[in-house]
Amino acid sequence: MRKVLLLLCLISFKAMDAQEISIIPQPASMIIGKGKLTISPKNVIHLWGSGLEKNAAFLQDYIKKMYGFGIKIDQSQKKTKVVQKGDIVLNYDKIEHPVAGAYHLTVSSDKIYIGGDNATGVFYGIQTLIQLFPTNLNAALTIPQLTIADQPRFAYRGMHLDVGRHFFSINFIKKYIDFIAAHKMNTFHWHLTEDQGWRIEIKKYPKLTTIGATRNGTTIGRYPGTGNTNVPYSGYYTQKEIKGIVQYATDRFVEVIPEIELPGHSSAAIAAYPALSCFPNESTKYPTKTAWNGPSEGKQVQQTWGVFEDVFCPSETTFQFLENVFDEVIALFPSKYIHIGGDECPKESWKRSAFCQALIKEKNLKDEHGLQSYFIQRIERYLNSKGKQIIGWDEILEGGLAPNATVMSWRGEKGGIEAAKQQHNVIMTPGDWVYFDHAQNKKEDSVTIGGFTDLQKVYSYEPIPKGLSSSEEKYVLGAQANLWTEYITNVPKAEYMLFPRMSALSEVLWSPKSSKNFTDFQNRMLKQYERYANWGVNYNKPAK
Ligand code: ACM
Repeated sequence: MRKVLLLLCLISFKAMDAQEISIIPQPASMIIGKGKLTISPKNVIHLWGSGLEKNAAFLQDYIKKMYGFGIKIDQSQKKTKVVQKGDIVLNYDKIEHPVAGAYHLTVSSDKIYIGGDNATGVFYGIQTLIQLFPTNLNAALTIPQLTIADQPRFAYRGMHLDVGRHFFSINFIKKYIDFIAAHKMNTFHWHLTEDQGWRIEIKKYPKLTTIGATRNGTTIGRYPGTGNTNVPYSGYYTQKEIKGIVQYATDRFVEVIPEIELPGHSSAAIAAYPALSCFPNESTKYPTKTAWNGPSEGKQVQQTWGVFEDVFCPSETTFQFLENVFDEVIALFPSKYIHIGGDECPKESWKRSAFCQALIKEKNLKDEHGLQSYFIQRIERYLNSKGKQIIGWDEILEGGLAPNATVMSWRGEKGGIEAAKQQHNVIMTPGDWVYFDHAQNKKEDSVTIGGFTDLQKVYSYEPIPKGLSSSEEKYVLGAQANLWTEYITNVPKAEYMLFPRMSALSEVLWSPKSSKNFTDFQNRMLKQYERYANWGVNYNKPAK
């Protein structure tokens, strides 16, 4: 009997510890120790590896901001220096893992040790350490002793944000990057140009922002809507602001990939520079079932949602324009990739354009899909010549894939499978699992675009699609959630759509497939909801 009681005690002690330790995404391996360790203001962060100053500063800032006390950083890098009980050591460990960002974290009776395979790994070790801290911000910084060996499953762990339909402030973009970093994700896909607004300053083409960044009104409610706000809607980022964002992201080991949409979704650019259209003298068409505000003659920035016929003409004027735009974009974004869009480009205007038809003949192309492929391949050649790789939505498969392109599979998994079979890199963003503009409750209080993707659905996502051989699987770099903002007009709504689904996606992308367990995830989420509250974010609260 005493043995049984002892066993029960041990089990409940373990369960308590396990619940206390709620790390998201779940680490690859964790051994929970017995005691605890407390970090106090007299403790020091020691740098045993060079180049870890920013990591240390991040942790120092975090403790100051959340727990209100300063902790010193010892930059001397001398391993012989005395380490006091509760001190934190940042270092490098050699870890054999094909995806960058692996780390070891040990909380022992005397110190906290984080060893990363590189500075990114150290950063992720710090993110895990932060999750060991109490969610009660007034409590002592007492953490459990444990040993973690952790590593990311996928190399590409992304979040997208559409700032074309609705604009989000620099302040929120920084928060968005914080959310990405806190989830050990590493890519921010910034969708900067749309039919309803051009959002990036291009110095050579000032009208892109003096004209293209403003629409005269916006549809009210779900398309086709109940009217028009009749209020102009504007916003763009200056190049200086963008440089600040890129630096902010770099400091948090997040790469920012800009998207400049072509050849479709280009109404705002065409409103600014009508010569980019095959029919510069035709007025912009908009759905007659929607209400319009202001002048409707000439080229206009779109005021409602959907897909529009007036797209970039594949002319030398357009290519010169795009190359000049990309020259400025490349100077701002150090990312390996530039996203060039490529989705939802109707072919009507190319069909009725004598110029396009002659070009199809001259280049010996099959049809307008061939022309789209020609368009993308020309842009790819230019960007490759500048040392950049392109990503495009899966429509870039139609008419023939550009030789080095990475495909973003959004219309289900099919595009991803096809691209991987063609030995092209793939990023999976299939709507059913990772479109965070979809509803997550059977009945939502505010309008969403449609579709239903709840927490469990996101958690159930497996980024490697069925039907790929093991040699093809390696082309799947990872996955990304997309946040399209037709019906996301403000920050609380954006946060509500993100959370808690983003936490589920982080686990899909980081944790070993074998460790996935939705019930366990939900248990760990109880602490994560407290973290959300500490971050001051809005979220979809679970049913009680
Ligand atoms: C997309 O959702 N149109 C890529």
